[in-house]
Amino acid sequence: MNLSLFNIFFFLLLLISPLDVSLARHCVVEGPLQVHIINKLPPNGPPLKFHCASKDTDLGEYSPAPEEDFNWSFCELIGFRTLYYCHFWWYSKVQMFDVYSDPYTCIKGQSAFNFLEYCKWEVRENGFFLEQYNETEKAYHMNLLYDWS
Ligand SMILES: *[C@@H]1O[C@H](CO)[C@@H](O)[C@H](O)[C@H]1NC(C)=O
Ligand SMILES: *[C@@H]1O[C@H](CO)[C@@H](O)[C@H](O)[C@H]1NC(C)=O
Repeated sequence: MNLSLFNIFFFLLLLISPLDVSLARHCVVEGPLQVHIINKLPPNGPPLKFHCASKDTDLGEYSPAPEEDFNWSFCELIGFRTLYYCHFWWYSKVQMFDVYSDPYTCIKGQSAFNFLEYCKWEVRENGFFLEQYNETEKAYHMNLLYDWS
């Protein structure tokens, strides 16, 4: 009796564990990923506002102080299907884009890899900058990816 219960338990364990591993490369094999959005706008202007969300998670509307780092962590899903997007408002300007859609390049379609466990964005007067690795220089740089519309 005890032995068969043990067998059933062991059988269930075998069924469950490969599933767990395939669920998330990050978080099971590696730590969680993070997205950082840093407000680098001048402190004397109007406040920056943004609203970030994924399909399942609404991070709400937020207005960071100058130099503040707004960040969150998450585990990547099967097939790397996690996608976070944000709306930004400043003066009468607006912008909207995906801030995370790929575990290697932060957003899909970028050739520059990011080997870090986080994606770092800076919101500046002249646009939105993402930290990316430059193979030639072997160093990270903040690169302009989007202008304010
Ligand atoms: C990430 O956000 C938390 C508040 O949620 C803040 O305390 C922390 O300093 C931020 N991380 C960094 C690296 O600034
Ligand atoms: C990497 O750095 C080199 C040397 O500064 C520069 O010429 C090149 O454009 C950079 N590549 C990217 C993708 O930014």
